[in-house]
Amino acid sequence: MESTYPVDSKSYDHSILYMVRRVKPEQLDSLDPMDPKALASRRDLTLINKIMGNHRWFEQALKPMYDAKLHALEIGAGGGELGTYLNEKIEFSTYSAVDFAPRPEVWPRDAMWHRGDILHYENLGTTELLLANLILHHFTDEELDALGRRIQHSSIQHIYANEPSRRTIHKWQLWAGCLIGFSAVTLYDGTISINAGFNENELAHKLGLKRAEWLVCVTTTKMGAYRMEAHRR
Ligand SMILES: C[S@@+](CC[C@H](N)C(=O)[O-])C[C@H]1O[C@@H](n2cnc3c(N)ncnc32)[C@H](O)[C@@H]1O
Repeated sequence: MESTYPVDSKSYDHSILYMVRRVKPEQLDSLDPMDPKALASRRDLTLINKIMGNHRWFEQALKPMYDAKLHALEIGAGGGELGTYLNEKIEFSTYSAVDFAPRPEVWPRDAMWHRGDILHYENLGTTELLLANLILHHFTDEELDALGRRIQHSSIQHIYANEPSRRTIHKWQLWAGCLIGFSAVTLYDGTISINAGFNENELAHKLGLKRAEWLVCVTTTKMGAYRMEAHRR
């Protein structure tokens, strides 16, 4: 039996700040995309991405791939900001995105947009590069396992994921967002997101990435980002 990336829980077991991963529905997902509450929350999300430096991280982390002109798929692309940003900097062979939300008004002309459920998305086809910004934490362990199986049987060679780091301190940082006007939906969904975030090698483990097949690197930031790069060996 091939081993997946193990989760080293030792460093957390004795900490009073340890949080068990819990996945609950987020309010934004059940709102009509045009609902003013959804629009306000997406605006907050844009600011959160800026504060956490998420788009910049993708840009920097993808630098070694710039010349490769890969087929890229972004899951949970939301308002399309990351795809728009990256397509201005990097030449992809193709760029596709999938989200429940409709195609954003501002979206690269040559990029594709699929409206639907990532968990039932069947077009992994020629995808080589998978991009995930603040989306994988939406999924239960069982859903991540199923998604991981599909990734492993696909042509995906590289995964770049930016997710919430599951630590109490990041909830305090989020709640400080009251001071700059974060909406109630953002504060609720942000808390749910941090509770469903990741630590250490958890994401690779839950996706079932095998050590023998994938090289995985995880980093976290003071502003609450959990970042995983995985490359097929
Ligand atoms: C927290 S938002 C992040 C959006 C974007 N990546 C960003 O950083 O602004 C999560 C996005 O995932 C989408 N989403 C959640 N679960 C999904 C699913 N099962 N299938 C498709 N989209 C999903 C939601 O519609 C939402 O746009």
